[in-house]
Amino acid sequence: MSNVQPRGDKSGSVPTVDFGAKILDMARELAQFSETTEGLTCTYFSPAHKAVAVRLREWMRSAGLAAEIDAVGNVVGRYASAANAPKTLIVGSHYDTVINAGQFDGRLGILTALVVAEHLHGTGQRLPFHLEVIGFSEEEGARFSAPYLGSSAIAGCFNETVFDRQDLSGIDLATLLRTEGVDLAAIRKLARRPETLRGYLEVHIEQGPVLLENNLPVGVVTSIAASVRFRITIRGVVGHAGTVPMSLRHDAAAAAAEIVLAVERRCAEGPNLVGTVGQLAVPHGVINVIPGCCELSLDIRAGDDATHAAAIADILAAICQIAERRGVTAEVAKIAHHAAVACAPQIQSALARAIKRNGIEPFYLASGAGHDGEMFAGITDIGMLFVRCGNGGISHSPLETVTAADVDIAAHVLLDAVLNLDQLGL
Ligand code: GLV
Ligand code: MN
Ligand code: MN
Repeated sequence: MSNVQPRGDKSGSVPTVDFGAKILDMARELAQFSETTEGLTCTYFSPAHKAVAVRLREWMRSAGLAAEIDAVGNVVGRYASAANAPKTLIVGSHYDTVINAGQFDGRLGILTALVVAEHLHGTGQRLPFHLEVIGFSEEEGARFSAPYLGSSAIAGCFNETVFDRQDLSGIDLATLLRTEGVDLAAIRKLARRPETLRGYLEVHIEQGPVLLENNLPVGVVTSIAASVRFRITIRGVVGHAGTVPMSLRHDAAAAAAEIVLAVERRCAEGPNLVGTVGQLAVPHGVINVIPGCCELSLDIRAGDDATHAAAIADILAAICQIAERRGVTAEVAKIAHHAAVACAPQIQSALARAIKRNGIEPFYLASGAGHDGEMFAGITDIGMLFVRCGNGGISHSPLETVTAADVDIAAHVLLDAVLNLDQLGL
């Protein structure tokens, strides 16, 4: 039996506009811009990525927002307060994707905010703060191993050391941006002053099975997990696959395989701890050659910083031991590290009340995935609303699904929460 009651409270204050189908149509339209002929891949500043930015700007403008694409590629649409308010509420998510992505990760949050802003404009409802709908240009880190490029710039924590990072073609981020006509110094100027921010809200597909299991369309996010990413290069000794006895080998791929298993074992020890080796490569690998080099990625996340730190320390120690025992070297480069962040209690309760007014019992869950909101924690109050992910909760895959009905509920909850933020004295 569904836990969802018909939407609308007794006062009839919740509008019955159908946002869901429109949002899904727009997500499908954006998914046609891809770097691949099949599936969806849209990484930072690819032609597909630039086309999505232009389309989002177009949509924002027709929704009544003053919209621009900024230096780092964010699409920023402003719905100004009539009262010339001093503060701005940012509602957004990212439009870049992983390789071979689903259609809703990130984009769902931008489009939901967009239709809500369009509704406010269309019905002439002004807010006591400016509302900015932002499509962040980069969150996944897929192209330059540098996640959160878009949101970190706006939040004032853009890390300029990432300008040196290269993509697979060997171009570095600074060169790419200059080629695209970006003045690198302009990125720093995108930073907002914390005192001008009203808060940060993000709608996002859950990307897991919890809401699905609980038969609920939406849920309030309580916190975002701590995460770290490493790139590891193992160097052993290359050799002929037929002539070197097993006891004399220094096989880089075998060492990497042992590391993968050590990560799996250690991360199975904690309930809120996960570890993943998502990339594993033997450069110039040949079927009859002992691998002299192996490259792997490592992503470790935990619900709290202490669990995270302990797991990282143990795994790094295990990597050293494995390398030493096997006579290989392991170079470990940390490419991103983010502490766990809590969603602001006031925003959680604004979302919970909005959910309730939509006839649904509020449900709270933590996020294991990273989100743009992390960048804003510490400078303003952040909050997130998760939307049920279909298909067993599969995400970062073309198998990712949502329903129009759930998305519609999410949009109504967002609208309600935005309209009622002031009642909580936020
Ligand atoms: C982003 O999707 C992440 O959590 O890696
Ligand atoms: Mn993602
Ligand atoms: Mn995302």
